[in-house]
Amino acid sequence: MLNDKKTIFSGIQPSGNLTIGNYLGSLKNWVTLQDEYNSLFCIVDLHAITVRQIPADLRKRTLEVLALYMACGLDPEKSIIFVQSHVPAHAELSWVLGCYTMFGELSRMTQFKDKSEKNSQNVNAGLFTYPVLMAADILLYQADLVPVGEDQKQHLEITRDIAERFNGVYGDTFTIPEPFIRKVGGKIMSISEPTKKMSKSDSGDGSVCILDDRDTIIRKFKRAVTDSDCEIKFSEGKDGINNLIMIYSAFSGKTTDEIEAEFMGNGYGNFKIAVGECCADALGKIKDKYNLYISDKAQLEAVMRTGSDKASYLARKTLSKVYRKVGFVTKP
Ligand code: TRP
Repeated sequence: MLNDKKTIFSGIQPSGNLTIGNYLGSLKNWVTLQDEYNSLFCIVDLHAITVRQIPADLRKRTLEVLALYMACGLDPEKSIIFVQSHVPAHAELSWVLGCYTMFGELSRMTQFKDKSEKNSQNVNAGLFTYPVLMAADILLYQADLVPVGEDQKQHLEITRDIAERFNGVYGDTFTIPEPFIRKVGGKIMSISEPTKKMSKSDSGDGSVCILDDRDTIIRKFKRAVTDSDCEIKFSEGKDGINNLIMIYSAFSGKTTDEIEAEFMGNGYGNFKIAVGECCADALGKIKDKYNLYISDKAQLEAVMRTGSDKASYLARKTLSKVYRKVGFVTKP
């Protein structure tokens, strides 16, 4: 990338239906970032298999995520959009970095502890070394900034530690990446359990999926959990209402103050319907575009091919440098 813009890298696992949490927390922001930065947006299928996947579903979801990336506004002319398994350098660098990552530091990862509790019958080595692969994703492209949610901050810290350790031994090799965590829309909570993050692996009414149909969206919002008083006001302890205000604000562009004024004296019922309709309007537009992209196999393939060619070129440069530094003989 021959310009002086900074580089950003981020990715989403194709492990469930993307939710408005993914949209408001990640995709919507990425769309604006792609104008300012050299951007790489990855569909991290290698990470997805740390939890058992049904092969046909994984294959289908990978293409769905790609079509959704584009429907939300990621532009393959501006950003490098690609599938992780199409660029073998991710797995290759991950092996090398694994030899510079300590068992003890991986054992401290809170996501590993959470996921191994939830998947106690499949606590596999991939789940344990997941952060090393994530470090490889980021470091391969010398990314300066990594837009992620709060929950990934610890993985970014270990990425920095691994990069610093490697640079310390072999001299400057990797750019040390910074997390890029936005405040607004940063964390959308489940609408049925507003103290938990909205998750794409939750199939219940708490998660609103980008591709849900209008009636489903409105029905889910009507059932949203709130609290026992009846004031539409952003305040401490009103997790459900705060979350709905955040969602409404993100979709409508209105501020919290404007929303509180708009719904002064209204009950929760009206507010929930308004949030649902506003969300359904916005998602409806995305869905129309999605339908066009998902039905055009040739275009999806062309985007994946171009994306992985561009990504591979950049990744190879870093990987050759690493191989040379650790002492591997150059392939004649
Ligand atoms: N672990 C991230 C998540 O679950 C996904 C991810 C994989 C990622 N590799 C990445 C995010 C590199 C940012 C950069 O949300």
